[in-house]
Amino acid sequence: MTIVTNTEDLRLLARKRIPRAIFDYADRGSYEEHTIAANRADLAALRLRQRVMVDVSDRTTATTMLGEAVTMPLAIAPTGLTGLFHGNGEIHGARAAQAFGVPFTLSTMSICSIEDVAAAVTKPFWFQLYVMRDRGFSESLIRRAAAARCSALMLTMDLQIHGQRHRDIKNGLNVPPRLTLANALDIATKPAWATRVLFGKRRSFGNLDGHVKGADDLSTLAEWTASQFDPSLSWKDVEWVRKLWPGKLIMKGLLDADDARMAASVGADAVVVSNHGGRQLDSAISSIKALPRVVEAIGDKTEVWFDGGIRSGQDVLKALALGARGCLIGKAFLYGLGAMGEAGVTRTLEIIRKELDVSMALTGTRRVAEVGEHILDR
Ligand code: GLV
Repeated sequence: MTIVTNTEDLRLLARKRIPRAIFDYADRGSYEEHTIAANRADLAALRLRQRVMVDVSDRTTATTMLGEAVTMPLAIAPTGLTGLFHGNGEIHGARAAQAFGVPFTLSTMSICSIEDVAAAVTKPFWFQLYVMRDRGFSESLIRRAAAARCSALMLTMDLQIHGQRHRDIKNGLNVPPRLTLANALDIATKPAWATRVLFGKRRSFGNLDGHVKGADDLSTLAEWTASQFDPSLSWKDVEWVRKLWPGKLIMKGLLDADDARMAASVGADAVVVSNHGGRQLDSAISSIKALPRVVEAIGDKTEVWFDGGIRSGQDVLKALALGARGCLIGKAFLYGLGAMGEAGVTRTLEIIRKELDVSMALTGTRRVAEVGEHILDR
């Protein structure tokens, strides 16, 4: 019996309980994996400044993200294939987030559909949009998100084309997952996963079924992305999105101050500083290194959020110290989900919130709004 004390324990449990190809899809990065490593290393290298003898009896991690009350400044990031980590994974993720009081983002590339998730929760969730070549289909996705009363649309900007993840190719990652000679032994040792997912009801991309030609006959993710995602996506398309979606718009996946200024000027309500978890441009700078540049460029008028390597409450605190108003977790969420389903997602959130709370206290901080660069030792 593993005693779970941190998100790494959940990662190791997930590794034991779900097929290798699914675990690696979350766990690994693109090409030589320089950027995924830098995300973690640069966060780890930051030092917090200990302060003592501050009355921290009255403190809270609660704040807001885009005006929505949150129990901590952390949202669940959109992650593809979530429902392959645990049967109905997106529903479990959304429910855990709702009960905890943090936002959940549903990916375009989810297994459960927008409608599946909407039927399972009472509070609004966020929907992440990939723009497809078939603009009519993209338009219908936006309309479906509106009909499901999603409270924000998150436009991903850094994946018009797919950065290669060597592991996915070597593992033969397929959607829907298939039992093959090569993975039979692996899957035989994960019977609970096989019952829930391999022989479960939802195994392919729920948002695309019946809408996108060939969505139920997918080869590799990379090939599919190449054939469906629109590489012509540019700043001028934001106007088109804006017309269809007058609500809150989050623009995700930038590292550069010039891009941040563009995002702010086209009307982003929030931006996410992100290199897609080290899964796209390898050798791009780490997200935490990019964060202060973006905050300096647009932080006075646009909410700047952060993802890329968050595994603990200390990591969240460091990002807040460098100016993020909120953070997102992708991998840490999937580890919890793969380890223990909905309870594992709740556990991930509890662990990070507790760590954030204690670390705030030990830096003499009572409120999220009080966090600033002064809590770093530089
Ligand atoms: C999709 O967003 C991926 O990173 O695979």
